[in-house]
Amino acid sequence: MGLSFEEELTRTLDGFKAQLSAPLPNAVFGSFVEGELAATAAVSRVGQFASSHHKMVMWGVFTSPRYRRRGLSRMVVVTALRHAFDNGARRVNLQVYVPNEPALALYRTLGFVDCGAEPEAVCLNGSCYDGIYMTLANDEGCIFSSGSPSVSAEVRR
Ligand SMILES: CC(C)(COP(=O)(O)OP(=O)(O)OC[C@H]1O[C@@H](n2cnc3c(N)ncnc32)[C@H](O)[C@@H]1OP(=O)(O)O)[C@@H](O)C(=O)NCCC(=O)NCCS
Repeated sequence: MGLSFEEELTRTLDGFKAQLSAPLPNAVFGSFVEGELAATAAVSRVGQFASSHHKMVMWGVFTSPRYRRRGLSRMVVVTALRHAFDNGARRVNLQVYVPNEPALALYRTLGFVDCGAEPEAVCLNGSCYDGIYMTLANDEGCIFSSGSPSVSAEVRR
């Protein structure tokens, strides 16, 4: 959502619970290392009507700083993408606030392509950042042939 840290702190636990428990096919996935949540990725429908049910939006992609560069995000993002495509999505879209080379590189290695940009998509603490839109169609991705994760971790919904 691009909230500042201070804005995140104003959100209630009930608000987080509602966000995490939206009905299927909306889903949030976590990658756990020895029981600890290390990485997350989520997919949601963008509307209630059938006219938008061919696409989902990816959000909540995050890896705990101490677990980065171990393949956890790739693993949990691929799991979320498979879930979206298995549940009828033809396309998964997302937005990256830039600069964010790690995220752009992650998504590009999975087959996402740029499909637009929103100038000044978010303003945090007085600085504004553009948002790059990226999209992956079910038949475009290389998600099933991408590299294996370098650590073993469990992915749970
Ligand atoms: C982006 C982010 C989720 C990547 O998580 P991660 O678990 O470290 O990523 P992985 O180890 O699975 O890396 C997968 C691929 O992403 C790319 N990548 C990840 N981190 C990178 C970095 N610092 N620099 C360049 N490429 C990077 C690489 O292509 C990498 O494959 P490789 O390791 O085989 O080269 C993580 O840096 C993060 O949480 N950033 C802050 C939150 C954020 O920006 N989320 C995305 C919002 S759109």
